[in-house]
Amino acid sequence: MTLIDSPPTDRADATGFPLVDEDPAHHRFRVHRSTMTSPEIFRDELERIFKHCWLYVGHESEVTNPGDYVRRPVAGRPVFMVRGVKSGTVHVFHNTCTHRGAVVCRQRSGNAKVFQCFYHAWTFDSEGQLKGVPDREAYGEKLDFDALALKSVARVESYRGFVFACFDPDVEDLVDYLAGAREYLDLIIDSADGEMEIIKGTNEYCIEANWKLLCENSIDGYHAVSTHDTYFKYLVALGTDLQGGVKGTAKDLGNGHAVLEYAAPWGRPIAKWEPLFGEHAKDEITALRADLVAKHGEERASRMADTNRNMLIYPNLVVNDIMAVTVRTFMPLAPDRMDITAWEMAPRGEQPQLRQRRLDSFLTFLGPAGFATPDDVEALESCQQGFNSGGVEWNDISRGMAREQRGNDEGQMRTFWRRWQQQMGPSSYGEIR
Ligand code: FES
Ligand code: FE
Repeated sequence: MTLIDSPPTDRADATGFPLVDEDPAHHRFRVHRSTMTSPEIFRDELERIFKHCWLYVGHESEVTNPGDYVRRPVAGRPVFMVRGVKSGTVHVFHNTCTHRGAVVCRQRSGNAKVFQCFYHAWTFDSEGQLKGVPDREAYGEKLDFDALALKSVARVESYRGFVFACFDPDVEDLVDYLAGAREYLDLIIDSADGEMEIIKGTNEYCIEANWKLLCENSIDGYHAVSTHDTYFKYLVALGTDLQGGVKGTAKDLGNGHAVLEYAAPWGRPIAKWEPLFGEHAKDEITALRADLVAKHGEERASRMADTNRNMLIYPNLVVNDIMAVTVRTFMPLAPDRMDITAWEMAPRGEQPQLRQRRLDSFLTFLGPAGFATPDDVEALESCQQGFNSGGVEWNDISRGMAREQRGNDEGQMRTFWRRWQQQMGPSSYGEIR
């Protein structure tokens, strides 16, 4: 883990940064607004970032049984994740028939021993092997069933249940890629005795804004009090003590990943009571907390129970461990448009009343009609509209450069943008500017 605002060591050409302009001597960090609007930059992002990074596909708990599958778009490409019936392995296949291209897995999710292409009825098993070809004799003896198996995405690895894929066969191993983010995933997973699951059902929505605005927003402590004013007023009305405010730190976790970690006044289903949960929940939460302390010691248990984390795993996975645990990924569709999918994650086998409290907590703040998400969507779309006004070339992301970084500064966004610049390269956009 490196300190926020320490420049990357492999920045060989510090002079050629036309789109991310960093000037530590003057405590200035700017990002050119064409990064949010240019179709050329958008195309290059798909090529230079989304083809080479590990991208979140789904969680192993979504395909618990042999033959379980889910269909997913990853970087705009149709793929599907399936647990092989014979091997028990989680595969991620390109969702395209090896005959003439049709999408093979057409349902969003389900359980299947075989996938039959609807076009000419070629059939593949859950390990991807080609099993059946109608009028087989028409091809003669040499039809190579192995060569015509479904194609796996170049690299597929999982970290403690989180399944990632990468289209670049030469990418570093996932554990190395995750770098400092691993410890934060561990903290969440360990707090549930290693058994987390995705709760069935998703939030899916679209934002008319550049995808990087959501990267920034997801780890932005600065906007919380102003943008989410209604939520804070609601908590106060319920009797929550907001005197302590939101205090925390941000960390650069390496490879563009960053986290915001802070103590917050709201409750946490894992072990921090608040009035929203009701008086009857107090004893239960006290017992949960004692259990955490017994298992993990006071210090780690307190971090699990009392502190919140908003983490960005570069480029497009957000894990929020706040009043509930959410996993959110988003796919750029155009310079000014993205699709977002969010899931709620919970300890496997959680008692029904705890699960209910968690879901309430999730929906109250993070759901599509919750206190946070519509406000954030409005803020991001508003930025995108503002870019179209022109007249201002740069976004300013320098907050906190003149002091030791605090949670509501912008160092975590600078972490993101430095990595973005490294991947995009320094100088090919002169004419766009
Ligand atoms: Fe799938 Fe022909 S395209 S069987
Ligand atoms: Fe927000």
